[in-house]
Amino acid sequence: MKKYNIAVIGGGGREHAICAQLKKSPRTDNLYCIPGNAGISGICTCEKLSVFDFDGIEKFCKANAVDLVFVAPDDPLAKGLVNFLTEKGLRAFGPTREAAQLESSKVFSKAFMQRHGIPTAKHRSFSDYSEAERYLLEADMPIVLKADGLALGKGVLICEDRESALKGLKELMLDGKFGDAGSNIVIEEFLKGREVTVLAFCDGNTVKCMPSSQDHKRAFDGDKGLNTGGMGAFAPSPYFTRAMQEELMNKIALPTVNGLKEEGIIFKGVIYFGLMMTATGLKVIEYNARFGDPETQVVLPLLKTDFVDIVNACIDGTLDSLDIEWEDFTALTVVVASGGYPENVVKGYPVEIGDTRDVEIFHAGTAFDAQGRLVTNGGRVFDVTATGRDIAEAREKVYAQIDKIRFTDARYRKDIGLV
Ligand code: AMP
Ligand code: GLY
Repeated sequence: MKKYNIAVIGGGGREHAICAQLKKSPRTDNLYCIPGNAGISGICTCEKLSVFDFDGIEKFCKANAVDLVFVAPDDPLAKGLVNFLTEKGLRAFGPTREAAQLESSKVFSKAFMQRHGIPTAKHRSFSDYSEAERYLLEADMPIVLKADGLALGKGVLICEDRESALKGLKELMLDGKFGDAGSNIVIEEFLKGREVTVLAFCDGNTVKCMPSSQDHKRAFDGDKGLNTGGMGAFAPSPYFTRAMQEELMNKIALPTVNGLKEEGIIFKGVIYFGLMMTATGLKVIEYNARFGDPETQVVLPLLKTDFVDIVNACIDGTLDSLDIEWEDFTALTVVVASGGYPENVVKGYPVEIGDTRDVEIFHAGTAFDAQGRLVTNGGRVFDVTATGRDIAEAREKVYAQIDKIRFTDARYRKDIGLV
C-alpha cells in the first residue's frame, strides 16, 4: 500500500480536524502542518512558515519528501498556491486560483450563477458609486451589500432600511472600509429562511456531497451581535430533507461543476455551498472553495471512508468509483472564544484544560509561550466537539465539559444546536 507524507496548510480548528482525520488513515506516513498551532503540534509536526511563503512551503515539502499537500484556507487558494505547487511538481489538493474565484470574487460567482441558471438572490454588480446609490434609492428593503473580494467574512452588510443601506454603501465604496475588496460590490435581494451548509468533494467531473451542517455565525446567544467566523455548528442538519438533497444535486451542485467545466475551469477540492432554504426552494447565498470552519469540525468526525483515498480520488479524477460512507450519528461543536471576539481580541492568556471526557477538543487559536505554557492566540480558541445519537445528546456532552477549559474572559454561546 502506498503511504504518503502529507503537509496540511493552515493553523486553525478546521486544520486540527483535518489533521486528526488524516492521522487516522493507514495511508498517512509523516504528517506536517504549516504553520499549525499548539494543539495540532500534539498530533503532527508543525512548521512555522506563513501560508503565503510559497517558496518556503515548496522548499519544506521537497526537503521532507512530502508527496501530498492539503491546502485548507481561502487566502492561499485565492492567491494560487495550488497552481504554484503543481507547477513545481508537487501533488496538491485544492482548487486552482481560477477555480477558487467561486469564493474569492462575489462578482464572478454571481455572474456565473446567472449564466448557468443556478438559483441565488437577485443581484446587480456595481463599480460606480453614483450608479449604486441611484439603484439603492429605488430598491426594496431590507437589502444586502457585498464587497467583491475576500474580506474575512466581514464584507457583507445586511441593511434593514434605506438610510443604513446608503451609509453602508459609502463605507464600502468611498471610505474603503474593506480596502480594495470594496471597489466592486454586489447589491442583492435579502433572502428569508434557515441557512444550511453543504460541503462537497469534487474531482472536476463528479461531485459528492457530505452530510449537511449548520453554522451559528452571530457572536451571542439568540443570534444576536456581530457576524463572526462561526461560534458553533452541528451536522447533519435535521432541517435539510432528502428532497432538498436531490434539489441541491440537480439544480445547484451538478450545474456548478458542469458550468465551470464549460468555461474551462476544472474544480478539484471541496466546494462549500452556503444555502438558504427559502419558500421558493434552495438558493445559493455563497460559494466557498474549501472546507468551512467550524463546519469541518462536525462533518469530518462522521466520515467512515479513508480520507486520504478521497483526497487522492479528487486529485486523480476518480471520485465516481469511490463509495464514501458516513456514520449515522450527529456531531456538535461549540467555540470557546476570547472575550472581545470578534472586535477586540486579546492574546496570550494562559489556558488550563481540566480532565475532559466524551469530547474532542480541536484547537483553533493556541500557542506555547516562551515558558512553554499553553496560551490563547486568536479570537476563536477551542472547538469543543462531541458526537451523539442526536443534537440533544451531543449538546449534553459538550456543555458538560466545556467549563473545564479556563482562561481569562473565555466566552461561548450556550444555544448551539437550539436555534
Ligand atoms: P456571505 O459571506 O455571502 O456568506 O454572507 C455572510 C452572511 O450574511 C450569510 O451567512 C448570511 O447569514 C447573510 N447573508 C448573505 N447574503 C444574504 C442574503 N441575500 N439574504 C439574507 N442573508 C444573507
Ligand atoms: N463557517 C463559515 C465559513 O467557513 O466560511
